[in-house]
Parts: sequence; C-alpha cells; structure tokens
Amino acid sequence: MKKSIKSKSQIYLNSVVISWFSVAVVSQIIFATYVILFYGKATLSGHSEYWNKILPHGYVNGEVIGNLVVGLHLFLAAVIIVGGPLQLITKIRNRFRKFHRWNGRIFIFTAYVLSITGLTMVWGRGAVGGLAQHISISINAILIIIAATMTIFFAVRRNIKIHSSWAIRLYLLVNGVWFFRVGLFFWLFVNNGPYGYDPKTFQGPFLTFLSISQYSIPLILFELYLFAKRKNIAILNYSASFILFLFILIIAIGSYSISTSLWFPMMAE
Ligand code: HEM
Repeated sequence: MKKSIKSKSQIYLNSVVISWFSVAVVSQIIFATYVILFYGKATLSGHSEYWNKILPHGYVNGEVIGNLVVGLHLFLAAVIIVGGPLQLITKIRNRFRKFHRWNGRIFIFTAYVLSITGLTMVWGRGAVGGLAQHISISINAILIIIAATMTIFFAVRRNIKIHSSWAIRLYLLVNGVWFFRVGLFFWLFVNNGPYGYDPKTFQGPFLTFLSISQYSIPLILFELYLFAKRKNIAILNYSASFILFLFILIIAIGSYSISTSLWFPMMAE
C-alpha cells in the first residue's frame, strides 16, 4: 500500500495533538481516581452524606430515588472517564476489536444515562451556579445525546471515518465537566484566587463564560484541527499547533492546581 509522506508541519501538528491527548488522559485518570476513592469510599462506608463536602445538593436525607440518581451519576462518571481514552487509542482499537465494540456500547449507554441523570439533577434537585450555567450544561447534555447517536449511527453503517470524528466529538463533550474544573482551577491559579465571579453564589461572568467554553472551545479546536488536516497548508498547521499548545499549557496548569488543592486531598479523606 502507498504510504503518504507527511510534511514537517503535519508531523508537528500530530505531535502536539498526541501531547494534548497524553496530558488530558493523565489528568482524567486523576479525576476518575478521585471520583472512585472519594465518592466510592463515602458510599461504601455508609456515609453518603459526605458527598455534600463537594456537592451541596448531593445527598438529601430521606430522598431515596434522588440519592440513587446522584449515586448512579457519580458511578457512571468514573466509568466514562476511564472508558473514553481506551476507545481513542489506535493500538487498542486495532488489536482488540471486540473490546472496542463492547467498551463503545458501554460508553454510549453511559453517555446517555449521565446526560439524563445530569438533567434530572440540575432541573429537579438543583445545582450550584445560576440559570445561565444550568442552561449551558443542559446544552452540553443535549449535544452529548446528539453526538452519541451520530457515533452509533455511523458505526452501524460502517462509515468509519465519520464515525471516528463523531466519537472524538463525543469524547470531548463528555469531558466538558472535566474541562470546566480544570479551566476553573487554571483561572484560580493565575489570578491567585477567585476573579470575575462571586465564590459564595458561584455565579458571575467568568463562570458563565467557562460553562459555555467547556464544550464549545474543545469542539472549535477539533474542527480547526480537521480543517488544518484537510487543507494541509503549513501556516495553518503551525497556527493550529500553536493554539493547541496553549491549550495544553492551560490543561497542565489547571490539572496541577486542582489535583494538589482538591482531588488529592479529597482522595485521602
Ligand atoms: C457526561 C459526562 C459527565 C461526567 C463525567 C460527570 C461527572 C460528574 C462528577 C464527577 C460530579 C461530582 C462533582 C465533583 O466531585 O467534582 C458531577 C456532579 C454533577 N453533575 Fe455531572 N457529569 C457529566 C455530565 C453531566 C451533565 C450533562 C449534567 C447536566 C445536564 C451534569 C450535572 C451534574 C450535577 C447537577 C452535579 C452535582 C453538582 C451540584 O451539586 O451542583 N453532569 N458530575
């Protein structure tokens, strides 16, 4: 088979994308470990009320169904954060096809359930933040449902190229909640504390911006990457690489900040 020769700028862009993915996966593994250790330990030790150290609306005494919904949301959060990268790693996908299919089915099912339980929590039980943030995360949920449906649709039709693009969009969308947390702690780190929002009400222009950015910026960057790949013009490849490089820095700083000040301490609780 004829192998296409990649230009220097394409090699550069691919390396930046791989670096981005590697940094993101390390941070997501820490996030998943925190979810498993903190919420898992609290639940298994019979102290679900400890969820409320982080989630003000997490556990409500006597509300069995509502608490089960939150518990399911937290359990599936860990499943999806771990399952996502496993779907996207080419070597795993090519060598373990059966695993890819099963993990994919679990991933899609989990994405639907997380979105539906998330919507129930925001609009039924209440969540931190204001109306703008609630609308924004609900749009994230709807986009997850659309991307999950498109991902299966093209997998069933064996249109692997379009299936892969939708699978990446789905991965970015389900990680919106992770982007939000890492983005917030990057902001806290560079401003040396809260700025642009009220930490008591957890509302303000910066948080509204962040709640929209948590899914729109990753999606825009992905479309930019696809565009650069399609056009294959050196200046475009270098510009996309530079923007992605800045994004890596934000994720690395934000992940360091949230891990040391929240995730690691809560794992040890
Ligand atoms: C699909 C991927 C999602 C994952 C991996 C995920 C993960 C999580 C995690 C880990 C928490 C606990 C918070 C923490 O300890 O930092 C949480 C809480 C929560 N999630 Fe999700 N979530 C997802 C989607 C959604 C969606 C789409 C919505 C809304 C439509 C949502 C609504 C909520 C709410 C309301 C809480 C409780 C926060 C509060 O008390 O204000 N989640 N989620």
